[in-house]
Amino acid sequence: FSCNTCKSADKCLEGYIAGLPMETSHHRVEGQSTKCGFGLKGVCCRLCSNGPCRITPKSPRGICGANADTIVARNFLRAVAAGSGCYIHVVENTALNLKNAAVAKAPIKGKGALKRLAEEFGITGSDEHDLAYKVADLVLKDLYKPEYEKMELVEKMAYKPRYEKWKELGILPGGAKSEVFAGVVKCSTNLNSDPVDMLLNCLKLGISTGLYGLTLTNLLNDVMLGEPEIRMAPVGLGVINPDYINIMITGHQHSLFVHLQERLTDPEVTEKAKAAGAKGFKLVGCTCVGQDLQLRGAHYTEIFDGHAGNNYTSEAVLATGAIDAVLSEFNCTLPGIEPICDELMIKQICLDDVAKKANAELMEYSYETREENSDKIIDAVIESYKARRGNVPVNLLPEHGNKNTLTGVSEISLKEFLGGNWQPLLDLIVAGKIKGVAGVVGCSNLTALGHDVCTVELTKELIKRDIIVLSAGCSSGGIENVGLMRPEAAELAGDGLKEVCKSLGIAPVLNFGPCLAIGRLEIVATELAQALNIDMPQLPLVLSAPQWLEEQALADGCFGLALGLPLHLGQQPFIAGSDLAVKVLTEDMKQITGGQVIVELDPVKAADKIEAVIDDKRKGLNI
Ligand code: SF4
Ligand code: FE2
Repeated sequence: FSCNTCKSADKCLEGYIAGLPMETSHHRVEGQSTKCGFGLKGVCCRLCSNGPCRITPKSPRGICGANADTIVARNFLRAVAAGSGCYIHVVENTALNLKNAAVAKAPIKGKGALKRLAEEFGITGSDEHDLAYKVADLVLKDLYKPEYEKMELVEKMAYKPRYEKWKELGILPGGAKSEVFAGVVKCSTNLNSDPVDMLLNCLKLGISTGLYGLTLTNLLNDVMLGEPEIRMAPVGLGVINPDYINIMITGHQHSLFVHLQERLTDPEVTEKAKAAGAKGFKLVGCTCVGQDLQLRGAHYTEIFDGHAGNNYTSEAVLATGAIDAVLSEFNCTLPGIEPICDELMIKQICLDDVAKKANAELMEYSYETREENSDKIIDAVIESYKARRGNVPVNLLPEHGNKNTLTGVSEISLKEFLGGNWQPLLDLIVAGKIKGVAGVVGCSNLTALGHDVCTVELTKELIKRDIIVLSAGCSSGGIENVGLMRPEAAELAGDGLKEVCKSLGIAPVLNFGPCLAIGRLEIVATELAQALNIDMPQLPLVLSAPQWLEEQALADGCFGLALGLPLHLGQQPFIAGSDLAVKVLTEDMKQITGGQVIVELDPVKAADKIEAVIDDKRKGLNI
C-alpha cells in the first residue's frame, strides 16, 4: 500500500505506517481529499424529503424557507446534542457502576476522592459504601430529571460567578438526558428557526456535558479505580511486549474494567497465561481510556506498562502483530481496525452495545455478571493468543515513544506536588516566569496538516513562549509520543518556563489524561480563579482543541465557552456558511459569557493569537 498522505508529527510512526502491508486510515486520506463544500460550510440540509437543500448565493433559502443561519445552527445544535449524549452515556454508566459497587460493598480505592465529593455535595453517610451510594445516586437523579427541573449539583460544582452568569443567561440545564432530547427536538424540521437561541442552547448542553460527562466521570472513576499519582511511565509502541498476552483497550469508560483489572492481577490468571506459553497478561493503552489507565497506572503496575498511542495510532498498534485482542467499550474505536483485526486474527470484544463492532463479539458488561464476564474475556483472549501467535507476522517498533513520560497529573496530584495549594503556580504567573496556561485538549485527526501536526507544533510554540501546557484527550497521546512530556523537553521551553521545569523536575506539558480530564482542567481553572477572587474569563488561560474530531469535542467546546474561556480551534466547525453563527461564536460570545472561538490552523499564527489573548488578560489583572 502506497501512502502519499501519511503525515504525522511523529516521524517514527509516520515511517512505520507508510511501510505497512495493510491499508490504514492514513492511507485513505488521499481518496477523501475532495471535501463537499456545502457540508464543510454547514449549509447542506437533509432534514426532510424536500431536500437535501444546499444554500448558494443564488438560492439563499431551502425549499421550506430556512436560510443559511437556521440551517447552520440546526446542524451545529444537532452535533452538540449528539456529542453531549455520548458523554452523558459515559457518566451514567460510571455512576451506575459506582452505585452497584457500593451495594456490593466492593473496595473503595479512592477514599480521598469519595470524601471530597461527599463534602462538595453536602452529604454524610454511615460508612464509605453508604456515602458512595449516595454520591452515585445524586448524580443519577440529576441525570434523569426532566428538562424543566434544573440539576441540583450544578450549583454545588460550578464556580459561583459562573453559576450566576448562567442563571442570568437562562442556560442552567435541566436533567442532562432530557436536555439531549430537547436539543434534538429543537433542531428538527420546521421547528426552531432562531440561530441565536439554538447557539445558546448549545451552551446549556455544554454545561451539562462538562460538569457531568467530563468532571464527574473522572471523579467517580477515581473513587472506584484509585486516584492519579504522579510518576514516570513509558509510552508509545515500544511498550508492547510480545512475551505477554496483550489486550489493547479503546474507549472512554474505565469503570467497565474495574473487575477485569483486578482479575488480571490474580496469580491464578497469570498461571493460565503461563500455561498458554506467555509470561502473563498486559493491557496496552490506546485512545482516551488508555490515558485513564496510564493516569491511574500506579494502582496496577503488574498488568500495565504504558499508553501506546491515540485513535489514529491504533491501527499501527495492531499492525505490530503482538496484540491478541481488542477490548472496546466506546468511541474512538475506528471501524478501520476491523479488517486489520481479521487479517491478523486479533479477537475483538465489545463491552457496550453502543460500540458494537460488526465482526466483534459482544460481551456486554454488567455489574451483576462481571465475574463471569471477566473469566469469559480472559479465556477468549487466551484462545486468540494460542491461535494466532506463530501464525501471524510480528512487526514491532521497539524504538518508538519514550520511557520517561511524566504522568498521573490531576487537579489533586498537581496541587499536592506544589505543596497543597496553587500559590506557587500563581506566584510564577505573576512573576512572569510562566506567562499563562493553555489547555491543549481534544482529539487527533488526519485532516489539514496531518496526524497531530497542528497539536504538536502549536504545543512547541506555546512552551517556547513560556506558556505552560496542560493536556487532555487524544492530543495527549500525540504530544507524549514525541517526547514533550519528558522533563528533558524543558530545553524546548522559553527561559522562564525552562527554569521552572528544571527546578521542579517537571515537563513543560503536563498530561491530565483522557478528554474527560478537560473536566479536571475546569477544576484547576475554577480554583485558580477562586484563589485570585476573579471570574474565569479574567484568567490568563486559553483552551485549544487544535485537532478536534468528533461531535463530543463540539460539546466540550461549548462547555469551554460557557466557562467564559477563549477557545482556539485548528479547524472551523461546519458553520462558515452562516456569518451570523460565526459572529456569535467568535465575537458576540465575549459579551455573552466572556469566551470566544478563535480559528487558526497555522501553529505559529495560532500561538501568536493565543499569546495575545494571554497578554491581554495579564494586562487586565495588572500583571
Ligand atoms: Fe430543505 Fe427545509 Fe427540508 Fe432542510 S428542512 S431539506 S432546508 S426543505
Ligand atoms: Fe476522548
